Amino acid sequence: MLFHKNEVIPEYYEFFNSVKIVSGYKALENIPFELSRLGAKRPIIITDKGVEQAGLIKVVVDSFGGTDTVIGAVFDETPQDSSDKVVNQIASIYRANKCDSIIAVGGGSVIDTAKGVNIVITEETDDLLKFMGNFRLNKPMKPFIVIPTTAGTGSEVTMAAVIANPEKKLKMQFTSDMMLPKLAVLDPRMTASMPPKITAATGMDALTHAVEAYIGPQKNPVSDAFAVAAIELIRNNLVNAVKDGKNVDVRLAMANASLLAGVAFSNSQTAIVHGLAHANGGLCHVPHGIANSILLPFGLEFYIEKGPKTKSKVKNNIENLLLSFVGPEEFVKVPVEDRAKSTVAAIRKITNELNKLCGLPLKLRDAGVPENKLGEIAQLTIDDGTAAFFPVEVNYEEALGVLKAAF
Ligand SMILES: NC(=O)c1ccc[n+]([C@@H]2O[C@H](COP(=O)([O-])OP(=O)(O)OC[C@H]3O[C@@H](n4cnc5c(N)ncnc54)[C@H](O)[C@@H]3O)[C@@H](O)[C@H]2O)c1
Ligand SMILES: [Fe+2]
Repeated sequence: MLFHKNEVIPEYYEFFNSVKIVSGYKALENIPFELSRLGAKRPIIITDKGVEQAGLIKVVVDSFGGTDTVIGAVFDETPQDSSDKVVNQIASIYRANKCDSIIAVGGGSVIDTAKGVNIVITEETDDLLKFMGNFRLNKPMKPFIVIPTTAGTGSEVTMAAVIANPEKKLKMQFTSDMMLPKLAVLDPRMTASMPPKITAATGMDALTHAVEAYIGPQKNPVSDAFAVAAIELIRNNLVNAVKDGKNVDVRLAMANASLLAGVAFSNSQTAIVHGLAHANGGLCHVPHGIANSILLPFGLEFYIEKGPKTKSKVKNNIENLLLSFVGPEEFVKVPVEDRAKSTVAAIRKITNELNKLCGLPLKLRDAGVPENKLGEIAQLTIDDGTAAFFPVEVNYEEALGVLKAAF
């Protein structure tokens, strides 16, 4: 039992997720059937070079053998900081090849790009900017299937996407339940090829989603159930996925953990760690998972310090989180006043081990962030689209303080 007895049901909450999940060792083989149920049989596959070179597109295409699904086109040049220009380029390939559906095969970069493609195709536009923001999409979208190849972002079940607009120097954020894929396919063949450092970083992104969902202002018993289930799977499997990447059971557990954490944060929002990670990514190109991994313990320490001085229950939530990290027997042995710090220690135990195993950085200085950029990063953090949802308001000095501690 991973809910603490002092959990309170909010006076009011909403929870939504409509994505069908297919998970298992031959999950890919279900796609043609699922596509036909969606009235589609000519998908475009959107991916990137790393995923293609790992041989994963061949595995996906081979799994369609003997069915009447025709691959309309394959686009494998999605860059890591994908932009509206790339989205429009893919949309014109979709139209030219008379595709009728979208399959994203990749990590968060590919999945978010595919979400952008679905917007411009559905809205018959080439101006993604018009749809930036919250809940500005109203039309039912094209059939959209996601096959995640990293276990981290959970983007296969989130109603969010981030796409760059270099001309306007913007990271455009989109939130709409319309963007949710119809189907998420978790097949361990898709993540087994992930190198150890990407496995570690993306797994820490998933852990950050679960932890921030659990302390988020819109947390509720349903999002909490997803968050604590994700934490339990991550604490039992992430280090093993880095040590033994070919172990399909461990890979399937991490794919499920990432999905569970995605459902949780898509409903209850993220907190300061994601705000800081977006800013570090935008300004210094620190990969999203690495930034989260470094900043998660420091972000929680900030809340432990500041939480009790506000009306927020955030410190109390961090105390209760310990239950998911250590289980009930260990949890009851820790005095209440030590629980929040013990949660942070449990997270550091994981990141220290990942650091030893694959060199996952523990400090921003080791991730290529120059010290003279910290001020600019702090400003970007408080201006980030996620800042309105932080459980405790954060000012410039406070954001800078967390960055300095993590430097
Ligand atoms: N929409 C959301 O809900 C959401 C949530 C979190 C993060 N994100 C976004 O996701 C992006 C990060 O995504 P990510 O962490 O999954 O990384 P990524 O998609 O950028 O991929 C990282 C690298 O790993 C390679 N790779 C991926 N899968 C592989 C595999 N199985 N084998 C070998 N190589 C593989 C890719 O080719 C790429 O080079 C960021 O842009 C972030 O903003 C979105
Ligand atoms: Fe994330």
